[in-house]
Amino acid sequence: MHHKFEFEYDLLDDSNQLSVVDQELLQAAIKATETAYAPYSNFKVGAAARLSSNAIIIGSNQESTSFPVGICAERALLNSVGSQFPLEKIQTIAISYEPLGKPSIEPISPCGMCRQSLLDYENRFKAPIKIIMAGKSGKVMVVQSAMNLLPFGFDGSILL
Ligand code: THU
Repeated sequence: MHHKFEFEYDLLDDSNQLSVVDQELLQAAIKATETAYAPYSNFKVGAAARLSSNAIIIGSNQESTSFPVGICAERALLNSVGSQFPLEKIQTIAISYEPLGKPSIEPISPCGMCRQSLLDYENRFKAPIKIIMAGKSGKVMVVQSAMNLLPFGFDGSILL
């Protein structure tokens, strides 16, 4: 039998169309690009999570001289939240970027590895994570769950 996978997302003309709390989170992600260590790609990525307590935690990409050892902003963020606030759910994550010498006016979406990590985090807490993706300005993309970004993501419950 043939099946079809569809997912929903919102595309906003600009960040003013986000709620005030989500605008604040996106600003935190934009600011977090300043903490990125990206001397090899010159592509600084910032991510910010709003926890169930409403606290905002940030992460950024941290590159390595041995390139594959570097970590994306999204997984740096999840590792930080998981280590420092292991009992708290993540409500929302915002992701932005600052590329050297290029505009940051389109949304970027997480790489495949980060999508798996985001999905793992959702499954761990049994709560969807809203994901906001945007440049420093311009259109903003929003999905209501990491599930929307990774059809057929590996479901680790089979390991338990
Ligand atoms: N990167 C992220 O941090 N997040 C993404 O969603 C895509 C890529 C980083 C990895 C690397 O340091 C640089 O951006 C260029 O790929």
